[in-house]
Amino acid sequence: MQNFTPFDFHLIPAPLLSWYRANKRSLPWRENPTPYRVWVSEIMLQQTRVEAVKEYYQRFMQALPDVEALAECEEEKLLKLWEGLGYYSRVRNLQKAAKQIVSFYGGVFPSDKQSLLSLPGIGSYTAGAISSIAFHKPCPAVDGNVFRVASRLEENPTPISRPPYRKYLESALEGVYPEEGIACAEFTQSLFELGALVCKPHAPECAICPLKEVCRAYQNGTQSLYPVMPKKIEKRHETVAVFLIETPEGWCIRRREEGVLKGMNEFPSALLNEGDSPEKILNEWGMYAFTEVKRQKYTHIFTHIRWEIICVWVRAESAPFDTYALAEIEEEISLPTAFKQCLGIVR
Ligand code: ADE
Repeated sequence: MQNFTPFDFHLIPAPLLSWYRANKRSLPWRENPTPYRVWVSEIMLQQTRVEAVKEYYQRFMQALPDVEALAECEEEKLLKLWEGLGYYSRVRNLQKAAKQIVSFYGGVFPSDKQSLLSLPGIGSYTAGAISSIAFHKPCPAVDGNVFRVASRLEENPTPISRPPYRKYLESALEGVYPEEGIACAEFTQSLFELGALVCKPHAPECAICPLKEVCRAYQNGTQSLYPVMPKKIEKRHETVAVFLIETPEGWCIRRREEGVLKGMNEFPSALLNEGDSPEKILNEWGMYAFTEVKRQKYTHIFTHIRWEIICVWVRAESAPFDTYALAEIEEEISLPTAFKQCLGIVR
């Protein structure tokens, strides 16, 4: 933690709670906020925008309305429900945790933070969100919104997301939470809401902010200097050949055995090293008789890697991998966005 004068967080719950009650958005996970519904929403919201999550969330809840349904769901169906959201380890952990909740806790969600933290995929943020929003406990949930709001309030020069800063904020906020009750759920969400609607990353709307009187960044005109972001890690660049192999029996799909997206379906692909050609890869798979129909370039960005994709559509008489009808690939098989976008070439 870097040097600064700590801020008195007692100043914020009262104005923030009144503002939240008058301005909160109506969001699907705010209706009937059971532990299961809150948990699934928070996992989805970790790497995905609210607007994008809404539809996925409704579909997921319809298909898997409770923790037992999630625990029992077949993997391919589960991945299909998550298709497009990315970061698939989230949904794998969701199911692992669901199985534990069913087997160890008889399907009843534990309410204390320590038990929640022991479940796969549940860290301090998610445990805090479930404890406060679903169980009405005075537990903070520090996400990017909360870091942004708090770092502006106190002009904190520490780069966000670092564990000591998170711990500091959690304990600072814990000290000012309302007593156990619905206000705890409201206070957690009021911080998310202020970050999303007012204290936005660019062009914050300070004129309408319920905390402007106490906000140091507003008073000093330093909003754009906070939050201080951690240094960006350079993304590794990779060139990947992705093959749409069309045969009389259908189109080839296989499961990825290693690397990024391990365990997910793909159109057969391979990393292209300097000097490699897509044709060479096909030869390595035992394919010599094929006709190239078209090729097209795409880009896909992961957290740490940037893929330059060369998508090659070829026709062949026999298939080196399992095949599926195009309609089946589009409607039933889960395919990460990096590969799904390649279907643009056949449209
Ligand atoms: N971002 C993370 N969690 C959220 C929630 N529960 N409501 C709105 N935005 C969020």
